[in-house]
Amino acid sequence: MKIVFLGPPGAGKGTYASRLQDKFGWPHISTGDLVREEIKSNTDIGRRIKPYYDEGKLVPDEIVIEMLKGRLSRDDCKNGFILDGFPRNLNQAKELEKITDIDLVINLVVPKDLIIKKLSGRRICKKCGAIYNINEIRIGDKVLPALKPKVDGICDKCGGELYQRDDDRPEVIEKRFVEYQNQTAPLIGYYKERGLLKDVDGVGTVNEVLERIISILNA
Ligand code: AP5
Ligand code: MG
Repeated sequence: MKIVFLGPPGAGKGTYASRLQDKFGWPHISTGDLVREEIKSNTDIGRRIKPYYDEGKLVPDEIVIEMLKGRLSRDDCKNGFILDGFPRNLNQAKELEKITDIDLVINLVVPKDLIIKKLSGRRICKKCGAIYNINEIRIGDKVLPALKPKVDGICDKCGGELYQRDDDRPEVIEKRFVEYQNQTAPLIGYYKERGLLKDVDGVGTVNEVLERIISILNA
């Protein structure tokens, strides 16, 4: 399966894509992670894209497209993959069509108040990128349990240190959200027209949402 995850910042793209990777073996490819890796390694590209990232803006298409091409050319992508955070605008969607076809677009539908709650408690592993949440979240009368590591500040999977993303500051979250609405949300209609889009209600516990996604995959 070649799957694209669409959804606003904090919708849970990375959370569900990594669970599907564990279950089905398709590599989870996050362009946000590729961008953060370049910035962390302080490469030429990393230095060029850091100002965009820090401002919550999309990095230039030509850079992110090259990164994605490099990643998709690796052997582990032969039997499918899950794209998280790509495409992010119409131009990237058209570029993706030139590189490969896709089978399914999962659109995570999550209200903005839940997004802000999710992002304020997010913690990420420095070493392996695993995603946690230190807060229990209440939405209406529903309670979403926290997704805490067993030991505070330490990744369950690899023992790495957990950190808070630089772009999870409230003022940057707002900018990422505006960028999503202006640039990425139009892709919902684009993929709907092509018969590839499936909406998934993203309000629920991790297992509930994951079940909704898996039932679409099974169908
Ligand atoms: P990127 O890293 O893709 O950020 P984003 O789209 O803003 O999405 P997030 O990673 O913030 O959210 P997510 O949907 O993955 O949510 P998560 O699973 O972590 O991009 C960052 C930047 O890189 C961009 O701003 C841009 O500069 C650049 N970039 C990347 N791709 C690009 C591209 N194609 N073109 C140009 N620029 C690009 O979940 C959020 C939190 O909620 C976590 O704490 C998680 O534990 C928790 N959570 C999730 N589900 C549940 C649940 N059911 N119950 C309780 N907690 C939950
Ligand atoms: Mg993510």
